Amino acid sequence: MKSLQSALFISLIVVSLTPTYNGVEIIGGREVKPHSKPYMASIQVYDKGWKSYGHWCGGALIRSGWILTAAHCELKGQEIQYLRVVLGAHSLSRNETSQQEFNIQEQHPHPQFNRETTENDIMLLQLSSEAKINKYVKLLKLPKDKGVDVKPGTSCDVAGWGVTTVGSRLLSDTLQEVELNVIDRNTCNSKDYYNRKPVVTKDMICAGDSKGRKDTCSGDSGGPLICKNMYKGIVSHGRGCADPKKPGIYTLISKKYLDWIQKIIGIET
Ligand code: ARG
Repeated sequence: MKSLQSALFISLIVVSLTPTYNGVEIIGGREVKPHSKPYMASIQVYDKGWKSYGHWCGGALIRSGWILTAAHCELKGQEIQYLRVVLGAHSLSRNETSQQEFNIQEQHPHPQFNRETTENDIMLLQLSSEAKINKYVKLLKLPKDKGVDVKPGTSCDVAGWGVTTVGSRLLSDTLQEVELNVIDRNTCNSKDYYNRKPVVTKDMICAGDSKGRKDTCSGDSGGPLICKNMYKGIVSHGRGCADPKKPGIYTLISKKYLDWIQKIIGIET
């Protein structure tokens, strides 16, 4: 985790020092129209060595004081003081007046999150104060469909500031997006694919590109997967990036997670 963290920091610094850098992907994607995804959160960690914040994970603003992200983005114990959330961002290196910054009051990883099986990779972050909802910062609605599954073949959209080139550690300075297709669970669990290592459960979705041109990658974790205009998943993991037989695995925002979220943040008023 630590070395990944420093790698991400170095990448961010490289990006910010290279004004001509022309990020064109998540992997195989494109830069979003600035502020067209006003619910996107950049979860960042302060690096004492570099004396600056670096992007760590993505997330989505679901209530003015709450971010939904992946449990593997949690920082342990006292390190919570080094976390911050930036909302209203397009470029992470620029001083955009649209940006709002928050400390984290509390991390709520799912109590059954399992690092080995990657099950229940979902977490709520409580911001230290409430975000101001405006043109640049808006809520993403949770699914109103009781968390039903997404059919194989469905096209979904995902965005993030993660790595844009396979094998690189360079994060994207600007928000990128890509469309992916949902892959049947049985296919994803088959020998050629993940071979049940890990098992893709009914609370996970596989999504990718049959040619392996498009995928999420490191740094995209925690970001929202949106299918038919509905928030359906969270970037969780994958082996490597853009390998057609190792598609990205997403936490499905299923009924059990909707119930868990509601228990923590209460019902909408
Ligand atoms: N675990 C990664 C992160 O920390 C996300 C990986 C997604 N990988 C993939 N091949 N789709 O950012």
